[in-house]
Amino acid sequence: MRGISDGLRITNAMRTPIIAGNWKMNNTIAQARELVNALRDDLSRLAARGSVEIVLCPPFLAVPVVAEMLQGTPIRAGAQDLFWESKGAFTGEVSPSMLAEVCAYVIIGHSERRQFFGETDAHVNKKIHAALAHQLKPIVCVGENLAQNEAGKTAEIVGAQVRAACAGLAREQAREIVIAYEPIWAIGTGKAATGAGANAVIGLSIRGALADLYDEEIAQAVRVQYGGSVNAKNAAEFFAQAEIDGALVGGASLIAPDFIAICRAVVK
Ligand code: 13P
Repeated sequence: MRGISDGLRITNAMRTPIIAGNWKMNNTIAQARELVNALRDDLSRLAARGSVEIVLCPPFLAVPVVAEMLQGTPIRAGAQDLFWESKGAFTGEVSPSMLAEVCAYVIIGHSERRQFFGETDAHVNKKIHAALAHQLKPIVCVGENLAQNEAGKTAEIVGAQVRAACAGLAREQAREIVIAYEPIWAIGTGKAATGAGANAVIGLSIRGALADLYDEEIAQAVRVQYGGSVNAKNAAEFFAQAEIDGALVGGASLIAPDFIAICRAVVK
């Protein structure tokens, strides 16, 4: 059986942590400007040390504004979704080439998209391929719901989501993705997973699936974040775990001092 702490394994010292703020459907353009103004100097100093990558993911409308405000800083802009086609009659959608003009990252397969907008594992896989084809780095979300967790199905569900997300991805493409383990029961509930619990799921189910699909080197190279009620108080507990390479932060990413404190906790 795969261990999560055997001595031969590379630890997260080899991977640069990545903290992304998922603003979800919050902030007008004017509010986005205010938040970036409040974050920019402190986050730039933290990211400039090279020991953390920081990404802000505003709603689509604010992405170009935020991206422009971040120019010349080490902070990156990201989007929260994309469509897989490059252009055409797809009313309401935003294409990978449009996003590639302004941002570096894109969140794919967030549980809110799966839950409220009918996204399936197959859609998620198409979106990942489309993002990579346009040099956008996908942050791919996986995670079990409460019923699945209580039924002891976490490993099965999360492993299957990782396998479906990676379908058809070559080894070197898989290396480019970031995976966010976001147990649905922990999102926006104030009930975060424990550091040890998230570490075990990431080590066994996510890196385990990557090792099966590719090899141990890829399993160790891919960065895996934890997401779900991360805040300034509990962030350090997650960052202390060997398998966890940063966080995908929702609510706390909208409050400048809190998001700065979370980013500071990872460079300590
Ligand atoms: P919260 O941090 O608000 O729980 O949201 C987590 C999340 O869904 C980030 O993508």
